[in-house]
Amino acid sequence: MIHSSKNINGTRFMRTAAFIMILILLFSWAGCRTQSAIVEETSLAKNEFQKKCQSCHKLPKPASKTDSEWVVLVLRYGKKAKLTDDQVKRITVYLTENN
Ligand code: HEC
Repeated sequence: MIHSSKNINGTRFMRTAAFIMILILLFSWAGCRTQSAIVEETSLAKNEFQKKCQSCHKLPKPASKTDSEWVVLVLRYGKKAKLTDDQVKRITVYLTENN
């Protein structure tokens, strides 16, 4: 790969664009659920979070990170925890609604 500054900026732009897309998708997805679906999703997400996110360390506190930090961290550690895309979505929504 040629390291021209154009390439480096392009990569950074793509990463920022992808990050913003994920945020928009997460919040629009969270916004159009019915009330009972929200309750169900929330307890499912809480269970999954407790089950998947304390096998390697103690359970992180939702309030310990900002929304954008959680988006990045759940993606990063979700890979380690072998989460499905839906689990990543649910856990991210749960954490960003409880921080
Ligand atoms: C396979 C082991 C493993 C699993 C499963 C795991 N983590 Fe972690 N996590 C780590 C390790 C190791 C660290 C310490 C930082 C490092 O060395 O990367 C860490 C650190 C963290 C931190 C602190 C990072 C910081 O910058 O403050 C947070 C928050 C976190 N994990 C969240 C999660 C969440 C949320 C989940 C569930 C989706 C999860 N982790 C599942 C291994 C894991």
